[in-house]
Order: sequence, then C-alpha cells, then structure tokens
Amino acid sequence: MLDKNVLEYSETLKKLGINHSILEHPELVTVEDVQKYLGFGLDEALATLIMKTEKGFVAIVRRGDCALDSKKTKKVLGVESLSMATDDEFRQITGVVPGAAHILHPVTKVIIDEKVFEKEKINGGSGSLLYTFRYDVGDLKKIPQSQIADVTKLTVSTVINKSNRVFSGIRATGRLHLGNYLGAVKGFLELEKTGKYETVYCVVDVHSITTPYDKEALAKNKREIIIDYLAAGLDPKKSIIIYQSDVPEHIELAFYFSSVVNVARMLHLPTYKDKIKQHPNAVTMALLNYPVLMAADILIYKAGLVPVGIDQEPHLEVTREIARKMNQLYGTDFPEPVRFATKGEYIPSLTGEGKMSKTIAGSYINLTDSLEEIRKKVRSVPTATTAGGEMSSGVKTLFTFANLFMPEETVKYKKAFEDGTLKFVELKDALAEAIYRELKPFQERRAKIASDTKYVDEVIRDGAERARKIAKATVDEVKKKMGLI
Ligand code: TRP
Repeated sequence: MLDKNVLEYSETLKKLGINHSILEHPELVTVEDVQKYLGFGLDEALATLIMKTEKGFVAIVRRGDCALDSKKTKKVLGVESLSMATDDEFRQITGVVPGAAHILHPVTKVIIDEKVFEKEKINGGSGSLLYTFRYDVGDLKKIPQSQIADVTKLTVSTVINKSNRVFSGIRATGRLHLGNYLGAVKGFLELEKTGKYETVYCVVDVHSITTPYDKEALAKNKREIIIDYLAAGLDPKKSIIIYQSDVPEHIELAFYFSSVVNVARMLHLPTYKDKIKQHPNAVTMALLNYPVLMAADILIYKAGLVPVGIDQEPHLEVTREIARKMNQLYGTDFPEPVRFATKGEYIPSLTGEGKMSKTIAGSYINLTDSLEEIRKKVRSVPTATTAGGEMSSGVKTLFTFANLFMPEETVKYKKAFEDGTLKFVELKDALAEAIYRELKPFQERRAKIASDTKYVDEVIRDGAERARKIAKATVDEVKKKMGLI
C-alpha cells in the first residue's frame, strides 16, 4: 500500500513532467543500505544536502559517490559561508526525516551537480523510508528553481565499502519445508537471477552442532539441503554452493573476531536466551559463539547483503558491530551487511497460529508433499468466522497463501468473503492446487538431481574450492593486520 504523501509526491512530479517509477523496500535509512538492497551502486543514487549560507538555505542534489566541494560550491553560489543544516533545520525545510529527502524543495535554489546527468536513471528519496523513486535523469532539469553546476568531486572511500557479494546460510536441521522455501531459497534465487551479485549459499553444518544433535541425521540432512537448493533452481555455475565445514577458514576467522566481542553482549541476545531455555543442560561455548561464527560466515566473503528472516536481525547487528570494530582497530575494509527481505518472509502456520515450523505438527507443508497431502493439510486450516465478520487468523492465513500462490484469483475470493458468499472449501482446494502447481516442477527436478550422486558431489567440491580462495585471502589479510603474520 502506498503512503498518501508518497502518492501526492508522485502526482506532483507527473504534473511537472518528471518521469519516475516507485521502488519498495524495508525501512532503510542510509542511501548506501537502500542502494545495496535494490542492487544499485552509490553512483546511481541522489543524495540531497540542505546547506546554510549567508543568503539563506539552498538544496544541493548530488550523486551518492560524489562529495561536495565547498570551494566550487561557494563560487557557484557567490557566498562566503557554507555549512550543513542541522537535522532540525533539515526537517523544517524539507518536511521529511533526514535520509528521505526528495528532489522538490521549497527553498530558493536547488543546485544539481552536473555529474548526475552522466546517468540515464537515478534513485532518490520519496519522503518515506520505505520507498525510493527512480527518475529519468533528463527530466530533473524540470525541478523548479534548479540550476546545473559543477559542485562536487568523486570520492573513492565510498566505493571501497560497496560490496556486491551476497551470503546466506540455512542450518542442517532437517529437510526444507514450504516456509523455508518461500522465505529463504526464493530470495536466494531472486538475487542470483539479477546477475548483479556474486552469491554464496551455504549449509551451515557447523552451526548445527551448537545445540544437541544426531550425527547420522546431520550427515544426511546437510546433503538434502544442497539437493533442495539445486532443485529450487540455484545454478552452481552462478552461485557458490558450500558446506560451511568445507571452508574451515570460517571457524578460524570466528576466533579472531571473538577477540573484539564482549561476552555480556552475547549473553543478552534473544536467540541465545531462547536456546538455553530449550536446552538447559547444553549451555556451551559453541552456542555462545553462534553469532560470532555467523559474522565470520558473512564477512569472510565481505558480503554486503544477506537474505535471511527478520528473526536474524539481532545477529546481523552483531555482524555490523564486529565489522566496525575490526575496521576501527585493524584497518580492515569489512562492509556493514544489510538484510534482504523476501516477499514471503513470514509464512504463517497452517494451524492459524504463529509461524510455519518443523517442530509444530500440522503447521507445515513439505516440499515433497503430494497434491492429496497438500489438500488435506490446507483443508485443515481452521476457518471459523469471528462474530464481527472479521477474518479469523486461520482465514488470514489462507489469504496470505492465496496472495503468494494465486495473486490474480485472490481478489475474487476476497470479495466473496466480504459478501459472505465464500465457500471456504472452494478457496482451500484452489489453493492446494496452486501450491502443488508450484511444487511439482521442484519435485521433478529434485528426484533427478538426487539420483545423480556424482553431479551433487562435484557441485560441493567445486563450491568449496572457489569459496576457499576468497576465504583464505580474507583470513590472510586479517592475520596480517592483527599482527599475526
Ligand atoms: N542463523 C541463521 C538461521 O538460523 C543461519 C546462518 C548461519 C546464517 N550463518 C549465516 C544466515 C550467515 C545468513 C548468513 O537462520
């Protein structure tokens, strides 16, 4: 749903003849994070500065990879003094929060740096931290009271922190279910397909030993997940697909990282607290180190983008803290990775309560389920209507799935629900078929891949070889910078 202000802004732009499209993203504050998320560099971002001069305020629109050159700017403006507006002044003048500035400014003058016009399209703020506008650069000349001038210089520092690597991992605790598939693997695939990133996808088997586990099951499960990755369509020529334990440098780097991490910080993480509640007799060092190993997984590849569920945000925060600390203390150039949220990131349980999970019976659909099994499970979603004719959580669940698997038909069913004419069994059966339609090709590919032992072995071997090259270079760099070699 578009924000009212964003829509109004879009209308105003249309009236001015400034062509644009609207991109949606999770709430991100820095231009760098937004661009990383959307898959663009800082050279395709517009950043607006509000500057104070003795003649009043002026807006300066420049590219994200350019820094203001104050000498040039003073000359262009014919002023003596030039300083950044404070956050409060920024809010007063633009009417939006810092980070979300758009390109129409009620100030006397808008200077657009000439380097902006080297691009065809460029992204800029929308007034909301959830949307970014992508403008046709040629139309920016139509911004009222604007003037094009050379007021910046290119910077190198921002380019160094621009990472185009993606890393993600799934624990080897069992076969994937529909929730993992939609929430994680589809996102992996989406990022691989853009062709803009170097993608590394991992089965984090070493993380699986941080809580009590069955060793035969682990050996079996970890391979099943690799097969699931391949069946979902990940291409081992494009993505590096690995077992974490095949790249022991992850563990080495985690130990170096642990020297900059506070024990108290780890003790207070919600994930750690949950796990020690579940396993009060297995409160181990490995468990406490879980987030540090995860940081090493990501940073060893200097990945900037991590497709994972929102529940992993606290771990990503730790990862960013470690990156900052290492860069500060040892002069490394680790990026501060951001999360990539997929559309199906919250897949509800079929019980109508909570999230789809392997550990709750009746809550999930297996990727290998037949049409009959899926139909039976979907039919079991509770649909008792609430007194006020509101959607019960079971009905909401059905519509969430309908939106994901048959978006075109959903409108029709929703209308029927509102009119009180909906027959739930019809919606359920149509949904079961739509889910099966999506899973069938997956199942066929999976059967083929699973029977080709040699191919799977080769994918794993080749992935490890490619990954170790990158991982070893990072570890060598860290050892040198830390004074170990
Ligand atoms: N902690 C993640 C989870 O439970 C798994 C994981 C380990 C991971 N290392 C990672 C995810 C690195 C992304 C990146 O889902």
